[in-house]
Amino acid sequence: MPIQRILFVCLGNICRSPLAEAIFLQLAEAADRAHLEADSAGTSGWHEGERADPRSREVAQRNGIHIQSRSRTVRDSDFALFDLILAMDRENLRHLQQRCPDEHRHKVRLMREWDPAGPGDVPDPYYGGPSGFDDNFAMLHRCCVQLLDELGE
Ligand code: 4NP
Repeated sequence: MPIQRILFVCLGNICRSPLAEAIFLQLAEAADRAHLEADSAGTSGWHEGERADPRSREVAQRNGIHIQSRSRTVRDSDFALFDLILAMDRENLRHLQQRCPDEHRHKVRLMREWDPAGPGDVPDPYYGGPSGFDDNFAMLHRCCVQLLDELGE
């Protein structure tokens, strides 16, 4: 079964993962791969129902991307529903691995496994300055390009 549904996961689902979701969807649409579906979620419910952080929306907007999503928490049903579940950092990876039923464990991976610049965490930008959001954008864009490339093979 080809990978079709991808879930991007961070802590609050207001900074990193909504940005990853919007970048991925825009690249997929531009590549005529609209059958690919993406969503994002948070391991915490701290910002449930909120729009993405204005700083994420701003960096996206500056790059011609509109973030529409609202924060939601990861649900148990996500592990069966999605084909690939990408954590932004190791802390969120651990959280997902602990919750994920064995049969779906192979779907849970780190986002930067797809970063051509090398592996690591997508750093949490929440308490930092605006440059953190620019760095996040560049990193997530690189990963999404690579991911989309691989999914096409
Ligand atoms: P995110 O960033 O996980 O990329 O959405 C954060 C958002 C909110 C908080 C931490 C990180 N917070 O502490 O509320």
